[in-house]
Amino acid sequence: MRGRVPRNRLIIAGTIVLLAAAALGAALAWNQIFDAALSAQMTLTPTSRSFREWVEPTVPLYFDVYLFNWTNAEQFPDEIPNLVEIGPYRFREKRSHVNVTWHPHNGSVSYRTFRSWEFDESSNGTLQDNITMLNIIAASAVYRSRDWGFIRQKGLSMGLAMFGEGISISKLAGELLFEGYDDPLLDLAKSLPESTTGGAPPVDRFGLFYGRNNSIDTDGFMEVSTGALSGSLPGQILKWNHLDHLPYYGSGKCSKLAGSAGEFMPHNLTEDSGLTLFVPDLCRTVHMQHTDSGQIAGLPYHKYALTETSFDNSSSSPSNSCFCNGECAWSGVMNVSSCRYGSPSFLSLPHFLYGDPQLRELVNGMEPDPEKHSFYFAVEPNLGVPLDVAARFQLNVWMEPNENIALYENVPKMLFPIFWVEQRVRVEDRVLSELRVVRGIYDWGGAICAGMTLFFVAFAVKVLCCAKKHKYSRYSRPCDVISEKPKDEAELKLNAM
Ligand SMILES: *[C@@H]1O[C@H](CO)[C@@H](O)[C@H](O)[C@H]1NC(C)=O
Ligand SMILES: *[C@@H]1O[C@H](CO)[C@@H](O)[C@H](O)[C@H]1NC(C)=O
Ligand SMILES: *[C@@H]1O[C@H](CO)[C@@H](O)[C@H](O)[C@H]1NC(C)=O
Ligand SMILES: *[C@@H]1O[C@H](CO)[C@@H](O)[C@H](O)[C@H]1NC(C)=O
Ligand SMILES: *[C@@H]1O[C@H](CO)[C@@H](O)[C@H](O)[C@H]1NC(C)=O
Ligand SMILES: *[C@@H]1O[C@H](CO)[C@@H](O)[C@H](O)[C@H]1NC(C)=O
Ligand SMILES: *[C@@H]1O[C@H](CO)[C@@H](O)[C@H](O)[C@H]1NC(C)=O
Ligand SMILES: *[C@@H]1O[C@H](CO)[C@@H](O)[C@H](O)[C@H]1NC(C)=O
Repeated sequence: MRGRVPRNRLIIAGTIVLLAAAALGAALAWNQIFDAALSAQMTLTPTSRSFREWVEPTVPLYFDVYLFNWTNAEQFPDEIPNLVEIGPYRFREKRSHVNVTWHPHNGSVSYRTFRSWEFDESSNGTLQDNITMLNIIAASAVYRSRDWGFIRQKGLSMGLAMFGEGISISKLAGELLFEGYDDPLLDLAKSLPESTTGGAPPVDRFGLFYGRNNSIDTDGFMEVSTGALSGSLPGQILKWNHLDHLPYYGSGKCSKLAGSAGEFMPHNLTEDSGLTLFVPDLCRTVHMQHTDSGQIAGLPYHKYALTETSFDNSSSSPSNSCFCNGECAWSGVMNVSSCRYGSPSFLSLPHFLYGDPQLRELVNGMEPDPEKHSFYFAVEPNLGVPLDVAARFQLNVWMEPNENIALYENVPKMLFPIFWVEQRVRVEDRVLSELRVVRGIYDWGGAICAGMTLFFVAFAVKVLCCAKKHKYSRYSRPCDVISEKPKDEAELKLNAM
């Protein structure tokens, strides 16, 4: 018994030295260890926490719509349009991911997004408001006839007059948004061949968001990475509507499908890296640039926003010219005609923020303000968690004079603003405090491991010195107790990590 005690001490001391080495290793490689643990947590699997939150988000989502009321439509085109912003019309959004299918062999998951909206009483206005706006149905018909011959254009001109189509329409806000309204031209379109309607599915009614409520088709069919394959990040778009490229922009750089699908951000963001995002509403990938950094409730963030160049398809940024599909007329707008069945739809930031100043001169009422109108993601860089998101854009309709069509004979060439939408999501307080804990582990984990290294080294020394003393003394028991107990504690600490 006596002869074995020192050997035991040596084994204990050796174990403690090993623990000290492990703690030192952990201290030095803390960031890598943390990233690996985080990746494992963020990977999408059917049982992961991030997946449960993703399938059916519990965060309250709001969809705010601002309509532009055209108050001097009777005087058009003699007076430039006066537009008055009305709203927000606020809708509570319910979102869930359906048809979720896992493809483990290629590290991906595919799904559709179901969305429904409920009018919220905190709106500044009611769905019974009487709003006047550009007659989009007529504008679309005229736009589609741009390359028709004289006879067909004259025919359309007579048709528009016969059906009593004016340059503007006055409808209730509810009809303009989700409910939709009847129009004789829609009935006519149903009887026309697809080539003249741009392949648009025949509809009975027209509304800005008609058919989107309770639909799973709006965002399309997505396939994103799960992050399970090594070196891949979760939530990156791989395929959209079964294609691995965008069919609208030829075969060059602009047709590339890339970026985060908007729900999971990379967790290696820096101030230099931009943030690449795929936005189904824009039918394209956008590159956001780092604009500033700061703190929200004690958590650091990097803010990435759409700037003058990232949302541009004009001559001022030639690398984006493959997006403009025709006339690169104005900067700061995006021709999304081809992904909206050939309608004259052009997207911009609200109030033509960062757009060509000429766009704002052709209408009254545009007051761009980066505070209210920018499109940004503020992301906690080490965790890759979005803390504050504002997704905003404006729909505009292209208009140009056409001498064969009476209704459009004297109109100016312009983009007519119709509405803008905002989706603002800020992380909840409950999640913020959880994130602060995780962030604290990230920040202090290295230091704690370094402290544990010192702690173990001290005990190894202590055990060894006790062992030496033992040869000359019988008082071994206190030393045994001390050398055993810290080991348990250390193990507990390691297990807790
Ligand atoms: C929109 O403008 C029209 C025409 O000026 C006006 O009659 C109507 O009241 C306005 N609607 C709202 C909601 O202000
Ligand atoms: C509500 O709308 C009116 C005009 O329709 C506007 O003057 C007012 O500023 C809006 N209020 C808010 C809180 O947005
Ligand atoms: C997708 O989900 C919807 C509703 O959950 C269901 O009706 C539909 O059959 C599913 N489609 C496929 C291809 O699984
Ligand atoms: C992953 O596999 C599924 C079927 O197993 C396939 O449909 C899908 O296109 C694949 N995705 C990629 C990005 O290759
Ligand atoms: C969307 O559909 C739901 C269920 O059918 C309905 O309760 C809701 O009012 C609709 N929302 C809008 C904005 O029409
Ligand atoms: C809405 O306003 C327009 C013009 O201000 C008017 O002609 C129309 O009758 C109004 N519609 C309703 C439903 O009040
Ligand atoms: C982040 O990681 C991804 C994949 O691992 C890599 O492609 C990308 O370049 C990295 N970004 C930065 C800024 O390090
Ligand atoms: C918008 O894009 C479509 C198709 O990509 C193109 O045919 C059209 O000419 C473009 N419109 C303008 C005004 O440039």
